[in-house]
Formats: sequence, C-alpha cells, structure tokens
Amino acid sequence: MAIQTTSRRSIGHTALHYPTPEDARAAERLMALLGFIKTQELPLPTGAFYRYVIAGEHHDRGDGILYISACPPAQRAYFDAVRAALKFGQPDEHPSVAALRAAQALDPEYAFHLGILTDSLDELEATMLGLQEAAESDPLLKGRITVSYNRPLPGDPLVDGRLDASPVFGGVTRHAYGRNGVQAFVATDLLINGPTGDGLVIELDYIWPDAAHHILSVVEVG
Ligand SMILES: [Fe+2]
Repeated sequence: MAIQTTSRRSIGHTALHYPTPEDARAAERLMALLGFIKTQELPLPTGAFYRYVIAGEHHDRGDGILYISACPPAQRAYFDAVRAALKFGQPDEHPSVAALRAAQALDPEYAFHLGILTDSLDELEATMLGLQEAAESDPLLKGRITVSYNRPLPGDPLVDGRLDASPVFGGVTRHAYGRNGVQAFVATDLLINGPTGDGLVIELDYIWPDAAHHILSVVEVG
C-alpha cells in the first residue's frame, strides 16, 4: 500500500559528470551560462568537484542542487566497454547507435534529460541567446553544445503573439506536448549520461503563470 505523504518534498539534487578532468573548465563555463550558481569548487586530483544550485534561494538548502564532477574511473571503463562492444564510430557500428541518435535528434526528450523551470521568459531568452553565441564563438564551448526549441501548441493569441515577437522562439516551428509553455534544449557532450554516456540534454522551461493547463501539467499530443 502506498504511503500517504503529508510532508513537503522537492527534488533535492542530481549528480552529473563531465567526461574527463580536462573538460572541467568548459563544463564550468556552460553551467555559468545556463544561469546556475556555483557555491563550491573543491579541487581534486581526479578533477574539480562542483556544487551548483539552480537559483539563489537554494544556496544553503538541501534541494535545487546539481553536483558536477569528473566521470569516475569505473563508470568510464563501463562506458568504454559498451562503446567497444557496439563498435562506436566504426563502419560496422551496431545499428542501434545510429537509431538512438536519430531518435534523439528528432526529439530532445526521447531519452534521459534534466528539466529546469524558470519563472522569467525574458531571462530564459537572454540565457539562450548567450548560449547560442557561445556555441558559435566561445573557444571552450564551440562545437560542444547544440540548442533547439519547442513552442506550445498554438491557439492562444497572447501566447502566440508573444512568441512570434521573440528573438529566440519567433522562427520555431516544432511544438511541445502541450500548451502555454516553451521548452529550450541544450544538448552537450560536456556532461555525460544516458545509455551511451556521450551526452546530456538540459531543458529550460517557462510556463504562463495563469494558464489553467500548460506543458508541464497536461501532456497533449497533436
Ligand atoms: Fe522534458
């Protein structure tokens, strides 16, 4: 029988890894551009360990935390073994690798990903413009991040008009599984996770605060 919870709960923390110690600075730059706040940096021989919070209110709390550290050796060895067995990047690569990548290219939410909610669309747009610029010109991040977007299913003139005028969402034609919210996706190989260990998608969301239904409350298809 399920326990009847009455206590307050929140998602406390997620532990993520950058691939190698050499990637620490680039991962740090990415976290800063995403707007996360670094509260601790612990130098370790195996690569720096970082504690970030997703917003200032979480600074000394036990939730809203992202721990980032270098991929530990046993996990690295596991990923290496998986890649060798599947012949990653070789002519006789197992077809499931390309199939998974194609599915993820069509839908950033296809596999494991991390979603962060913000209550400022203006700030989300500024964040994404900064990331777009970094993806093109930042020496640490060039070629390491890819951004993509979803608009909500159309139908609300106020929402649609605001997004038509947006420097980020104006030209977006792909839609979320719902209404009254937007999704911005940052795919990066600077943080590893998922079945192949070769990349993570971080999703930044905004929902219209007065909407009765939105992308995160009701999933809609079509
Ligand atoms: Fe998602």
